[in-house]
Amino acid sequence: MLPTREAAEMLLQDAEKCNPGPWGNHSRTAAHCAEKIAQACGDMDANKAYILGLLHDIGRKFGVRHLGHISDGYTYMMTLGYDEVAKICLTHSFNNQTLDEYIGKIDTTAEETALIKSQLQSVHFDEYDKLIQLCDALAGAEGVLDIELRMEDVKQRYGFYPKAKWDSNMRLKKYFETKTGTNIYTTVEKETFQP
Ligand SMILES: [Fe+2]
Repeated sequence: MLPTREAAEMLLQDAEKCNPGPWGNHSRTAAHCAEKIAQACGDMDANKAYILGLLHDIGRKFGVRHLGHISDGYTYMMTLGYDEVAKICLTHSFNNQTLDEYIGKIDTTAEETALIKSQLQSVHFDEYDKLIQLCDALAGAEGVLDIELRMEDVKQRYGFYPKAKWDSNMRLKKYFETKTGTNIYTTVEKETFQP
């Protein structure tokens, strides 16, 4: 189940009040990119893509956490019955479906880590999981970013960037460019979009 677009926007606004930060506009940029790419694909639900992009980081409502925002988002969305969003909260950081490539602190309790691990193993990644992974890598708080510059920036900040994740982000970009037949930056209006 999914919230409506309006309800999703309210959820994000409410969450930003609890933990203000650039993640709110990062989420809006991801939502915009997801909607545009889904529209261009022709066989995807653009409204669903927008809602999933908007709420992928909703776990940040519960404070500044690294891996914890994954389990917080998953649990929060499941509590509200939004299982399709919960799945995205879980899958958006794990392009290769493994916890090993997480960039950031493992700041979860043993219980939360176990939840993430078991859910990651059991879910089937679909087109929407792939789409939001790509949009997360494209979305900045001020607008759309060059995907390679963004990964380079993460590498500078965290000291490393797993090669498997780097390669899979580039593969995702290529995948959706082939599917839409258009350069990804053109599709997401990189030069003009502002959240
Ligand atoms: Fe994100």
